[in-house]
Amino acid sequence: MQSLFQNYAHLIVFIHILGAIIWIGGMIAVRVAVHPVMQSIEEPKIKLGKILEITGKLFNLVLPFIVLILLTALIMSVAMNGHHGSNKFLFIAKEAIWTVMTLNFSFMYFKRSKAKKLFDSGELIQAKALIANIPNLLLPINIILGVVAIWLGVSLRGY
Ligand code: HEM
Repeated sequence: MQSLFQNYAHLIVFIHILGAIIWIGGMIAVRVAVHPVMQSIEEPKIKLGKILEITGKLFNLVLPFIVLILLTALIMSVAMNGHHGSNKFLFIAKEAIWTVMTLNFSFMYFKRSKAKKLFDSGELIQAKALIANIPNLLLPINIILGVVAIWLGVSLRGY
C-alpha cells in the first residue's frame, strides 16, 4: 500500500478530490439550482416524473465515486499510517462522516427506487410522500457533512 501511494500519490489524491467534487457538487447543484426550478412545473405527474428522473441520474452518477472516495481514502489511511499517527482523530472523523453519508445516500437511493415503482404503477401521492424529505432534510444533511469532510481533508493536508 505504501509503495502504491508513493508511486501513484498524484492520481490517488486526484481521484479522491474528483469524487468529492462530483458527490458534493452534484448534490448542491440539484438542491440549489434544479430543485427550485422544478417547483414551477404545474402538472403534478410531469413534475414528480422529472424529479424522479433527475434524482435517479444524480444517484447513479455519484455511486461509483462514493466507492472511489473510500478506496482512495483507505490507500491513504494505510500509506500514511493514519490510524496511529498524530492525525488519527481526523482520519477516524472522516471515515465516520463517509459512513454516515453513505448510509444516508443508500436510504435516499432506496426511497427513490421505491417511489419510482409507485409512480410507474400510478400511485402518485404515495410516491411523492416517500421522497418528500429528500430535498428538505436528507440531501442538506449530506451536503453539510460533505463540506465538513472537505474541511477535514484540507486539515489532513497540513494547512
Ligand atoms: C473515508 C474516509 C476518508 C479518509 C480517510 C480521507 C483521507 C484524506 C486524506 C489523507 C487527505 C489528504 C490528501 C493529501 O495528502 O493531500 C484527504 C483530502 C481530501 N478529502 Fe478525504 N478522506 C475521507 C473521506 C472523504 C470524503 C467523504 C470527502 C468528501 C466527500 C473527502 C474529501 C476530501 C477533499 C476535497 C480533500 C482535499 C483537500 C485539499 O485539497 O487539501 N474525503 N482526505
